[in-house]
Amino acid sequence: MAATQKAFGWAAKDASGVLSPFHFSRRENGAEDVTIKVLYCGVCHSDLHNAKNEWGFTNYPLVPGHEMVGTVTKTGENVQKFKVGDRVGVGVIVGSCRTCSICEQDLENYCPKLVFTYNSLDKDGTKTYGGYSDIIVVDQHFVLRFPENIPSDSGAPLLCAGITVYSPMKYYGMIDQPGKHLGVAGLGGLGHVAVKFGKAFGLKVTVISRSSEKADEAINKLGADAFIVSSDPAQLKSALGTMDFIIDTIAAVHSLDPLLGFLKMNGKLITVGLPNKPLELPIFPLVLGRKLVGGSDIGGIKETQEMLDFCGKHGITSDIELIRMDEINTAMERLAKSDVRYRFVIDIEAISSETTIAQRPAYHQSRRPPHASKVQNSTGDNTESPQPHYLDPVASWSSYGSPHDPKAHKSFESSTAHTSKVQRPSSEQKPPSQDLSISTSQVTLQTEEIKEAEQRRRGKNRILSQKRGYVMRH
Ligand SMILES: NC(=O)c1ccc[n+]([C@@H]2O[C@H](COP(=O)([O-])OP(=O)(O)OC[C@H]3O[C@@H](n4cnc5c(N)ncnc54)[C@H](OP(=O)(O)O)[C@@H]3O)[C@@H](O)[C@H]2O)c1
Ligand SMILES: [Zn+2]
Ligand SMILES: [Zn+2]
Repeated sequence: MAATQKAFGWAAKDASGVLSPFHFSRRENGAEDVTIKVLYCGVCHSDLHNAKNEWGFTNYPLVPGHEMVGTVTKTGENVQKFKVGDRVGVGVIVGSCRTCSICEQDLENYCPKLVFTYNSLDKDGTKTYGGYSDIIVVDQHFVLRFPENIPSDSGAPLLCAGITVYSPMKYYGMIDQPGKHLGVAGLGGLGHVAVKFGKAFGLKVTVISRSSEKADEAINKLGADAFIVSSDPAQLKSALGTMDFIIDTIAAVHSLDPLLGFLKMNGKLITVGLPNKPLELPIFPLVLGRKLVGGSDIGGIKETQEMLDFCGKHGITSDIELIRMDEINTAMERLAKSDVRYRFVIDIEAISSETTIAQRPAYHQSRRPPHASKVQNSTGDNTESPQPHYLDPVASWSSYGSPHDPKAHKSFESSTAHTSKVQRPSSEQKPPSQDLSISTSQVTLQTEEIKEAEQRRRGKNRILSQKRGYVMRH
């Protein structure tokens, strides 16, 4: 029997989605492999869909997590790309056939033999387990170099959320057309990074969200130019026919009608969200406006590296709430309610055994007060696009929330109208503070150094979280 490495993580064991401690094995480090000590792992909505078997193909026990950053602790004899001590990232995929025409185009993410980081079968026939765990073993091809100026915690979500929005922006022609208008539907983990990329590519960015709760942050912190509350008929109407592109990150069933209505002629609606039921495709606005609806799934390894390097150059990171592993179930509950700013990231080292868990105080469930701000969109003119007569924004948006989720529907219906105008003072992306000076080129980078730097950041995050009204730690 092949030698194995002991691993410890948190797994969902049934469709309740509740995660609990789980001991398991990883394969021994092979010639092409690197073993990575996981330091941080982001919590993607796909982790939640999978943990609850919402897509219907979860194979329990499931250790989620596909946004991880860590340090290399072992390298196989053929590994040239990495050395022990390197800071690296692992995203959504850990294997593909590497020989098909799709892989040859560096699009491993679309390979028919793609191996997902969790809930898949690896090339050796073993089941893959994700990054809510202390170590992982990955073929060097699927391991990413992590830019030295990107912190490990707020950088981790780039490995899924980042590439998932970067790739379609590139493929569908959004990166070299500054001044064009991008709508971002759903301001969660993917959406908030899409706003940052949009601004880095010189686009005018409008957030489309269900309430005004995230408006101030969207404009003043994330850099969006405008914000549309999808429950306000006046705002919907003024946005009709104003957008060149929309990235739809909505995680639940929703109507595409209003989104198609926002597009100009020839506009493109790109869906990356993965609701558990099919969406209806309204044909009339599509046909009459020569519009396009497309999709996109994460990105290939080469493009993911390119995206990380781009983020290093432009100081793009995710806005995060740092949690301990034993806080994951509460975090999942909040994620289901879109109550996260904007990605939970697990500090994997903060807790490593059940004994420690028992000694920890309970998760503090403080909530931010609702934003007091009232906003109206500032989406500019709508003269370029035909106004589809069949599009009734009020009727369309009444089905925006999931029809299966009465609460979502209710919150949509009961939202208030907004009257004042939020102006973005400057459309420039503010680079995040960069207090981390870890060089990936340092061959013998010591784990202790990384720990120290991360400790400093953690302290900083805690203070920021508390300032915003959340208490993340005790
Ligand atoms: N294609 C890919 O490669 C890929 C990769 C990663 C994730 N995904 C999928 O993308 C989706 C988003 O992931 P995420 O991690 O960004 O999730 P997230 O953080 O939960 O964000 C999703 C956002 O969608 C909006 N939303 C949620 N429920 C809604 C409803 N009932 N009606 C209307 N809007 C709703 C919310 O925005 P507001 O509060 O602003 O309304 C929420 O913040 C998930 O389905 C995930 O599985 C796809
Ligand atoms: Zn993901
Ligand atoms: Zn292939």
